[in-house]
Amino acid sequence: MENKVIDIIKSRRSIRRFMEDQIRDEELELILEAGIYAPSAHNDQSWHFTVVQNKELIKELSEQAKEAAQEFDLDDVILKMVTNPELDIFYGAPTLIVVSGEEASMMPQIDCAAATQNMLLAAEAIDIGTCWNGIVTFLFESSKKEAYKEKLEIPEGYKPYYAVAVGYKKARPTKAPSRRKGTVSYLR
Ligand SMILES: Cc1cc2nc3c(=O)[nH]c(=O)nc-3n(C[C@H](O)[C@H](O)[C@H](O)COP(=O)(O)O)c2cc1C
Repeated sequence: MENKVIDIIKSRRSIRRFMEDQIRDEELELILEAGIYAPSAHNDQSWHFTVVQNKELIKELSEQAKEAAQEFDLDDVILKMVTNPELDIFYGAPTLIVVSGEEASMMPQIDCAAATQNMLLAAEAIDIGTCWNGIVTFLFESSKKEAYKEKLEIPEGYKPYYAVAVGYKKARPTKAPSRRKGTVSYLR
């Protein structure tokens, strides 16, 4: 069965090379609107989005996240990434959307994940690239978490969970990774 939404879901890939030029404000607003329209536990709408379009701050977050990650026990793949001085963990994206959740809400981290996925799909629908970033989470969990909550002006009572790198695609990955088998059971 053909369906536009399914096509978008299946064509979205993590983009790891971005153009330098900034996305248009209308494109940014459309992506944010998709996040805001996500489902949420208890209809808490517990998300807060911080748009970072300051190049120096994005660079600083990349450097600080790599350093902060080293406070934690890491697997080999992540360790290799965070000790690579050349790596920009946001891959040159001109926009970052930091997604924070209201801690007093029922299920803020899940609400924020739903909002994040909505934003990735909305971006794909207008051919804008995204990469969900979990490495920055190390910074938000590290000894510097309070300093960065302040620097990013995260509202009181909210906790930053992840960030999405957003920008025009410079490279287009081809086929989606193959899917694990046996992830569905039917009881009929
Ligand atoms: C919670 C979460 C955290 C992620 N963190 C990162 C990250 O820090 N860096 C990165 O390059 N990709 C990250 N990804 C992207 C995954 O690596 C990617 O979704 C996966 O390999 C499947 O590839 P695809 O998105 O192209 O389908 C993350 C994805 C999720 C859902």
